[in-house]
Amino acid sequence: MAKTANPAENAQLKDIIAHAKEYGFVYPSSEIYDGLQAVYDYGAYGVELKNNLKRLWWETMTRVHENIVGIDAAIFMHPTTWKASGHVDSFNDPMIDNKDSKKRYRADVLVEEHAAKLENEGKVDEAKQLTAALARLLEAEDLAGVRDLIINEGITCPISGTSNWTDVRQFNLMFSTQVGSVADDASTIYLRPETAQGIFVNFLNVQKTARMKVPFGIAQIGKAFRNEIVARQFIFRMREFEQMEMQFFVRPGTELDWYQKWADVRMRWHLALGTPAEKLRKHDHEKLAHYANAAMDIEYEFPFGFKEVEGIHSRTDFDLKSHQEYSKKKQQYFDPEVNQNYIPYVIETSIGADRLFLLTLCNAYTEETTEDKTRVYLKFHPAVAPVKAAILPLTKKDGLPEKAQEIVELLKYDFNIIYEEAASIGKRYTRQDLIGTPFCIAVDHQTLEDNTVTIRHRDTTEQERVPISELHGRIAEATSFRRVFERI
Ligand code: GAP
Repeated sequence: MAKTANPAENAQLKDIIAHAKEYGFVYPSSEIYDGLQAVYDYGAYGVELKNNLKRLWWETMTRVHENIVGIDAAIFMHPTTWKASGHVDSFNDPMIDNKDSKKRYRADVLVEEHAAKLENEGKVDEAKQLTAALARLLEAEDLAGVRDLIINEGITCPISGTSNWTDVRQFNLMFSTQVGSVADDASTIYLRPETAQGIFVNFLNVQKTARMKVPFGIAQIGKAFRNEIVARQFIFRMREFEQMEMQFFVRPGTELDWYQKWADVRMRWHLALGTPAEKLRKHDHEKLAHYANAAMDIEYEFPFGFKEVEGIHSRTDFDLKSHQEYSKKKQQYFDPEVNQNYIPYVIETSIGADRLFLLTLCNAYTEETTEDKTRVYLKFHPAVAPVKAAILPLTKKDGLPEKAQEIVELLKYDFNIIYEEAASIGKRYTRQDLIGTPFCIAVDHQTLEDNTVTIRHRDTTEQERVPISELHGRIAEATSFRRVFERI
């Protein structure tokens, strides 16, 4: 059950949101018009961090694993795709409105939060009974029962404080739009709510053209869209977001072994990136989606509690079988090893790039207080840090800027670096700490004499003198993806 965040933890989230905006990571979308709820833009350092995370995931999938290839499918898909996948009929959230505040809530979240409150008050059995009752009602699609549960538990609206609730209604989360100029039902298409279906409908294209043999995987990174009603917690729940999904096609009967393997591989990936083990946990789903025979989340302890970052799902042959039925095109694979045709089973790993970004930011945000001052820095793993090194001439004269520019030339084609000569060296170090640059390279008068520079390390603030000729190798070693791959 989700832990309810305490006020200090929420204050930490506020600090992180403010930091993300102030230092060029994330801005509210179209902010000059007061923003658009649950939509965000990435700034100069944000886009670098996000691209690094995406590239790391992509290369982990498609390079470390020889039997995984990538695709890039379109956002728009034939509308029947979403009939076959079950999204048209059942991609719904149960919503309830408070008639006094006019605020809309997810009915299940209201109950879960109430249960978490009970648990925090030590009423563990009561909390368990409540979540079990909710699961039963949702399973039976008994929406009137969910409303009764809310009222009987005395759950009130956090804004109005009343329990003047409407009925609970199902609300489909897909955004729709029209193709062409005639607005009728036949021209309605959807913005994809998950990238996975682009993989399923291309399963045979990829298997044949990339000459893949089961077991094999298809990876994709792309935008997904959901009309989330309860959009909260910054970029945790967005209406437009990016998913990184991998469908792994296996022989029927072997899927649960692969499911465990992928859950372990993905957990090791998070650990290899420097996320502490005590901040990660696996959470098995109690209620399985209609397509799954096993499912778990990898959760991270955000400032607002343990929440899902990544889903690992054993999706059976549901999707391919359903596409076969709707399209009337066979979705079978001939397995020469067992001399059989079958529809493969699928293990899915699915992570939101934005949610991984938030995890990375929360994990990196560090406030260190010594006797008289507090130092804030972002301790990103160097492999994903937006800027790898800052080149800083000590003064603006005596040929130091020219020497520093030579170093810029030496490094800029392989690494994202910054050159800065304004302000004191201390202030410039602070600026780099705030965006998480692992190395500051100071060029001083000694550099002109012996071609050495000072490297200042972000996390320890220690400084060491090294020859310029060693810089490229040092930075390459510290920022290499290989260091992450080796730990998976
Ligand atoms: N294909 C399976 C699927 O889409 P999901 O659990 O609905 O499963 C997978 O989503 C991942 O996508 C989540 O673990 C989360 O990281 C991310 N995600 C889902 N909805 C999101 C949203 N509204 N905003 C940001 N990320 C989201």
